[in-house]
Amino acid sequence: MIDGGGKCPCFDMTEQTPVTDTKATPVPKVPTLPDTQTVTDVKHYTDRLFSFRCTRPASMRFRSGEFVMIGLMGDVNPKTGKQKPLLRAYSIASPSWDEELEFYSIKVQDGPLTSRLQHIQPGDDIILRPKPVGTLVHDALLPGRRIWFFATGTGFAPFASLLREPQTYEDYDEVIITHTCREAGELTYGRDLIDALKDDELLNEVIGDGFWKKIKYYPTTTREDSAKMGRITDLMRSGEAFSDLGVDPINPESDRAMVCGNLAFNIEIKEMLEDYGLKEGANSDPQTYVVEKAFLD
Ligand code: A2P
Repeated sequence: MIDGGGKCPCFDMTEQTPVTDTKATPVPKVPTLPDTQTVTDVKHYTDRLFSFRCTRPASMRFRSGEFVMIGLMGDVNPKTGKQKPLLRAYSIASPSWDEELEFYSIKVQDGPLTSRLQHIQPGDDIILRPKPVGTLVHDALLPGRRIWFFATGTGFAPFASLLREPQTYEDYDEVIITHTCREAGELTYGRDLIDALKDDELLNEVIGDGFWKKIKYYPTTTREDSAKMGRITDLMRSGEAFSDLGVDPINPESDRAMVCGNLAFNIEIKEMLEDYGLKEGANSDPQTYVVEKAFLD
């Protein structure tokens, strides 16, 4: 597991109380923000969703699809006078080659972290532990012809990274991304990102002109009218998703899958993928599908 509240690597020796003079009043500890990065951009999509970008530590390397611990300093503990970092696991939504980092987050009004994080502005500091990990990485899958990215809500984040990752298009002939949300406005971040790939000169040059034609995007909503209503799980069970997309049902010879959504969704789709004959993989044991839980505050 991740060390979310580990010790601060930036401990400042000058803040220690001198030990020679035992009667001296202890010098109050000024909290030094550990692993600080600066917010460069913030975009709000709905009253429940926003994304932001921040600086990237020069030495930080990661594989597209991984996550890190990020957060803010918590409130001062009235008993000890100390502050502890309040950290949560967040998928990195930007690709590994991007010089900045991007995150896509829910806003929970009484959530310990996101009730505050939703108010960040460019120029503000956030804490970022530069130790990326995760299973939604190409290394955890065996070679295949077609890859499925299954997301609900903010579970789109790791796929925002992988959809901008050249290896995705080197490894697969077809890239299918399904995104199920409650309301239509919650699809905006993903839709805008996929639309922007078409005009991204750098990616079209690096990956190959028209690389985005490999993408089949299947957005659905469950609680508000949109072009396609329903949970992706139900739409796959009925066969509707496959006929809408004009593709064959999932089979273990050609198909690989990555899943990121809420817990109930992950459990349900995992079972379905197993029924199609896919097997769960990991970094140490690549197989035909991988799963990760989307962050909820
Ligand atoms: P629904 O509105 O029918 O619950 P949330 O915002 O709660 O994380 O949900 C995001 C989306 O995931 C919603 O559209 C929700 O549908 C859907 N969802 C929740 N549970 C499942 C599940 N077990 N299988 C498929 N979709 C699910």
